[in-house]
Amino acid sequence: MKQAHRGSILHFLGDPDSADKQCYEYFSDGLMIIENGHIHSLCDAAQGIKNLEPDVPLIEHPNSLIMPGFVDCHIHFPQTEVIAAYGEQLLQWLNKYTFPAEGKFKDKTYAKTMAEQFLNELLRAGTTTALVFGTVHKQSVDAFFEACEQRNLRMIAGKVMMDRNAPEYLTDDPESSYADSKDLIEKWHNRGRLNYAITPRFAPTSSKEQLQKAGQLLSEYPDIYMQTHLSENLDEITWVKELFPESESYLDAYDRAGLLGRRSVFAHCIHLDDKEWQRMAESQSGIAFCPTSNLFLGSGLFNLNRAVKEKINVGLATDVGGGTSFSMLQTMNEAYKVLQMRGDTLSILKMFYLATLGGAETLDLSDKIGNFEIGKEADFIVLDKTCTPLIKMRLEKCSDILEELFVLGILGDDRAVKQTWSAGQKVHDRDQIN
Ligand code: GUN
Ligand code: ZN
Repeated sequence: MKQAHRGSILHFLGDPDSADKQCYEYFSDGLMIIENGHIHSLCDAAQGIKNLEPDVPLIEHPNSLIMPGFVDCHIHFPQTEVIAAYGEQLLQWLNKYTFPAEGKFKDKTYAKTMAEQFLNELLRAGTTTALVFGTVHKQSVDAFFEACEQRNLRMIAGKVMMDRNAPEYLTDDPESSYADSKDLIEKWHNRGRLNYAITPRFAPTSSKEQLQKAGQLLSEYPDIYMQTHLSENLDEITWVKELFPESESYLDAYDRAGLLGRRSVFAHCIHLDDKEWQRMAESQSGIAFCPTSNLFLGSGLFNLNRAVKEKINVGLATDVGGGTSFSMLQTMNEAYKVLQMRGDTLSILKMFYLATLGGAETLDLSDKIGNFEIGKEADFIVLDKTCTPLIKMRLEKCSDILEELFVLGILGDDRAVKQTWSAGQKVHDRDQIN
């Protein structure tokens, strides 16, 4: 069960910010052989074609760039239908748009339909792995995982835990959220390519008791993930101080419940103080950098350089529906501008690293996905260098691959994603869409 893909190929070997080794590998005419859904070999086509067994199918990708599938470190599948909702910042946006939409996911059939649409959008954007919020309803997560399993995607998701400061129809309680999460873990965690994430929405919508229950689950299942929001919006931070008077900081409210760690991912982290930065680093917690959301909701400008200095894992994320695009290329575009607004610079390599291997590191999955090392799962995308007249013309003016990458990162979107492959199977073809 081998197949060979020929084209320009780029992937990362390490973080561009750590200078200990060559951080990327590029083949202008490369050959990647896949066997049983895993990377078998990667080399120059001139050499590889000579040794290719005659019965192995050879798939040619002219005018394209093959790279690992994108990793989106924070997204909400039930918010697909509120993307681009007008006029509000975080707390008002949640009440006015998000909570009513999430209420509909009580209905499993509805959740299933929306899960399929969400996955179509992810794959169209070239995203093969994501860390995903469901709703408070257990069945929303069942619907999501069932849809992922059918397509054999590597995904992480969890049921929202939320026992206060939300509409009645969207709240659970500490005991039921513990029991429902436990059932879902037993059913889905480590099943095929799926993993479970304990998902307390954010400190304002969980009682101290509920956060403790989330922490209890983490200690009972040491290889489980945890996802939540942290320090996104100034009104939110003031509110957390009122709700958790005994906590030293926003992060401390999570820390006291035992929610930090290598498999914990905190979205946003825009307004952290020095001590919070330090605890994030010490605890090896990860950050999801969500530039389109942070700009759209007027939340602020994430300090990526500080995270780099603290050696904290950061992955790029769309945060749809607070975010405005499923496209990780468009997310890179906005990330670049966020750093510009801070007076910092986001390097071209770092942009693409954050969306691939950096995301995989943040999700503690870099032994399985994120690049094309031998044995890794064959999740990859084929970017079309001629996808629009403007991109075609602009790429023709480029003198090297780095310049080309930058143009794709700034101008590219789902139109640039010609194909998406997951575990060696084609799961999206732009030109064969119904
Ligand atoms: N904080 C709590 N819930 C949410 C959410 O759904 N989206 C964003 N961006 N921030 C949140
Ligand atoms: Zn979010």
